[in-house]
Amino acid sequence: MKNLNIVFVANILPLLLAITPTKCVLNEQELKNLLANEYERTASAICTKVNEAEWNYETDINNHEKEQIVLNATLQSAAFHKKYWNKYFKDLKPEDFQDPEIKRQVKDLKLLGDSALDEKKLAELTKTVNAMTNIYSTAKICPYKDQQCDLAKSGLSLEPGIEAVIAKSTDYDELLYVWKAWRDASGAKMRNLYRIYVDLSNEAAVANNFKDKGEVWRYGYESKTFIQDIDELWNQVEPLYLELHKYVGSKLKERFGDKLDDSDGLLPAHLFGNMWAQEWNNIAQLVKPFPNASKIDVDKALIEQKYTILDLFQTSDNFYKSLGLIPSDICYNTSAGAMIEKPTDGREVLCHASAWDFCDGKNYRIKMCTEVNFEDFITIHHEMGHIQYFLQYAKQPITFREGANPGFHEAIGDTIALSVSTPKHLEKINLLKNYNNSYESSINTLMDMALQKIAFLPFGLLIDKWRWDVFSGAVKPEQWNAHWWEYRKKYQKIKPPVARSEEDFDPGAKFHVAGDSEYIAYFVAHTLQFQFYKSLCVEAGEYNPDDKNVPLHNCDFYESKAAGDKLREGLSLGSSKHWSEVLEVMTGSRKLDASAVLEYFEPLYKFLKEKNSK
Ligand SMILES: *[C@@H]1O[C@H](CO)[C@@H](O)[C@H](O)[C@H]1NC(C)=O
Ligand SMILES: *[C@@H]1O[C@H](CO)[C@@H](O)[C@H](O)[C@H]1NC(C)=O
Ligand SMILES: *[C@@H]1O[C@H](CO)[C@@H](O)[C@H](O)[C@H]1NC(C)=O
Ligand SMILES: *[C@@H]1O[C@H](CO)[C@@H](O)[C@H](O)[C@H]1NC(C)=O
Ligand SMILES: [Zn+2]
Repeated sequence: MKNLNIVFVANILPLLLAITPTKCVLNEQELKNLLANEYERTASAICTKVNEAEWNYETDINNHEKEQIVLNATLQSAAFHKKYWNKYFKDLKPEDFQDPEIKRQVKDLKLLGDSALDEKKLAELTKTVNAMTNIYSTAKICPYKDQQCDLAKSGLSLEPGIEAVIAKSTDYDELLYVWKAWRDASGAKMRNLYRIYVDLSNEAAVANNFKDKGEVWRYGYESKTFIQDIDELWNQVEPLYLELHKYVGSKLKERFGDKLDDSDGLLPAHLFGNMWAQEWNNIAQLVKPFPNASKIDVDKALIEQKYTILDLFQTSDNFYKSLGLIPSDICYNTSAGAMIEKPTDGREVLCHASAWDFCDGKNYRIKMCTEVNFEDFITIHHEMGHIQYFLQYAKQPITFREGANPGFHEAIGDTIALSVSTPKHLEKINLLKNYNNSYESSINTLMDMALQKIAFLPFGLLIDKWRWDVFSGAVKPEQWNAHWWEYRKKYQKIKPPVARSEEDFDPGAKFHVAGDSEYIAYFVAHTLQFQFYKSLCVEAGEYNPDDKNVPLHNCDFYESKAAGDKLREGLSLGSSKHWSEVLEVMTGSRKLDASAVLEYFEPLYKFLKEKNSK
């Protein structure tokens, strides 16, 4: 996750409000000067202030004074942006300017985001999102074996307590208890807040000349056909997902027997080793296609070799450096402010991993409750991808210090992690030994990857499909939860394990819904990362699409300066060009296309089809 609140953070200090903004019509040269100097300096400074306030709050979320400071900073930032907008940007038309970069900045600057709300409403929106985030991150449940517990003493929080149960338990009833208890403690408690949030977010959208907040989010993808485009991506990968779902279902049936009713072709949501059934890697052992062939077990190697959290970050940093990219030790340097493990000093923190750009060209931080295991090692690469992007576009003007589209930002670290996860690479860095590179073990390895990447796709798609319907009013509040489950069934082929009602609010049991964070970026990123990966592999001379003897999934572009150059060329553009141009720089293609996903998983797809037809 990346912090994207820069553009849409709004504001109005009473002081600034008191000044009636005078309107100023700038010619191209004057606008250029303003953007390069005064605006650049002041907008960056206010961005730093907001991010510092949010960092301080998210690393101490029960501190009400820090929450108040976030609110104040948010209002100040909104006042700042509103002032400039009224005075300079509101009535500008991109077509009145010659310089393509100025045209593009004007297009962005015309958008005021949530700052368009009046101060009272903006404060309410900010408080509402904070309240939902707070419910989410402080929610606790009693352990299965002690369901009447004193929450303050022995309650489990999501990370690491609840997640560990969901990941490791094979007891159907315990899983069911935890699944339901988490939703009672999180989503259900924010249902009313979510109504307020939707109304205010839509009001801000309308004030920016959009129909609703969903339209605002989709605007970032600069495509009139965006919804059709992503539906098409889903059509490309759905057959692969269905084969995976069927195969995994048969294994779950072996484990849970008659307790599991799959007569309708749907699987209960609590058995996949993940609270949202969004990634299934925690049940890899159960579904391993060839139990006797080699399997990658990095967790064991990390423990044996006594890796520390810092080692994990340094190893990741070393990969980026091996491509000739920018070192990023600053982002995991705890003396410089980073938080790379869960504090033990009594503070409650927002554990959800994130990467931060403090808008000053100097400070970049990762916030993560890291544990020493392979999953977190991969998450580190993901967050370091954000940091690398921040560093690469640091010289762009503030308006362009964004991903080419939000999916790009989420894809970079994952692209790196695809290379890092290959047996070839893990052997190179001594985290894998005696791996027998046979057909059987490569199917095992591909299965591990599919449990993360392919299992994720329908989930990545449906969260915002649901929110687009909520924001547009296509689904009424009385149907919110029912509609959520329609989509879960339609796309994931997953059903609730116990009856749900409109007293429940299951979407809110997911961080990004509670936290007002757009999600389709992750779906887009799951396509893009394979496009990037393939391109970097070709660049590194590790893959040739015409040579069918060397599969894509074996490629490791470690130490390839050519691959690094390609990445740098794309990342350093920020959002200064339309994403299709950036994509072309990085891959030679201007279109989102899932065929690299299919190419990567081809051997597994064949295997699954054959197994499932028996
Ligand atoms: C926030 O702003 C209000 C009004 O401007 C002020 O009274 C208050 O002291 C500020 N709070 C903090 C924590 O800065
Ligand atoms: C795996 O090995 C075990 C014991 O060595 C053997 O009994 C079993 O048949 C093997 N399974 C497969 C699928 O080869
Ligand atoms: C970490 O940050 C501190 C404080 O800014 C600095 O003195 C130190 O040199 C940094 N450490 C590394 C390894 O960069
Ligand atoms: C590697 O795996 C293949 C296929 O499973 C098997 O025939 C071969 O004996 C294995 N080699 C080693 C060294 O274990
Ligand atoms: Zn991310």
